[in-house]
Amino acid sequence: MKIRNQVKLSFMSVPENVPLARSAAGAFAAQMEFTLEDLEEIKIVVSEAVSNSIIHGYDNDPNRIVTLLCTIYEDAVLELVIEDEGKGIPDVPKAMETAFSTDPERMGLGFTFMQSFMETLKVESAVDKGTRVIMTKKPPRRVAASSELISEEN
Ligand SMILES: Nc1ncnc2c1ncn2[C@@H]1O[C@H](COP(=O)(O)OP(=O)(O)O)[C@@H](O)[C@H]1O
Ligand SMILES: [Mg+2]
Repeated sequence: MKIRNQVKLSFMSVPENVPLARSAAGAFAAQMEFTLEDLEEIKIVVSEAVSNSIIHGYDNDPNRIVTLLCTIYEDAVLELVIEDEGKGIPDVPKAMETAFSTDPERMGLGFTFMQSFMETLKVESAVDKGTRVIMTKKPPRRVAASSELISEEN
């Protein structure tokens, strides 16, 4: 599929970079015809995935690298890829279950948000190699404004 625009952001695994990744993804997605609600959801899923890389993937080690890759394909699909080279997930389907967390302090809702806010979600992970989260979303089909409909009729 032909790429129309792409941004790659690599950053240290410190919590200060979560809002950076979140805003970058939101600003990038804003060039497509997403609603404000969509953009808010896009920012949430990026926060969740990046936080997971930092907290779970790297066990809060600040000296590792998380990568965010944002791509717009020609058929107006937004793809977000969040990648780490951390400890990986031994059982991906289990990790993706609602309310599952390996940390008793956490809610286990990150993947659930990703699943409900995005159109597709794919998690590729290997123990001691890392995790890649791939998500896509399409802007809603544009509905012509009533004034446009009238002018078409005339
Ligand atoms: N990037 C990652 N690297 C390693 N483990 C991860 C990663 N992302 C998610 N996980 C695992 O999947 C579980 C579920 O993630 P999530 O749904 O975000 O819930 P929570 O972060 O609240 O635990 C985590 O508890 C963790 O064990
Ligand atoms: Mg999480």
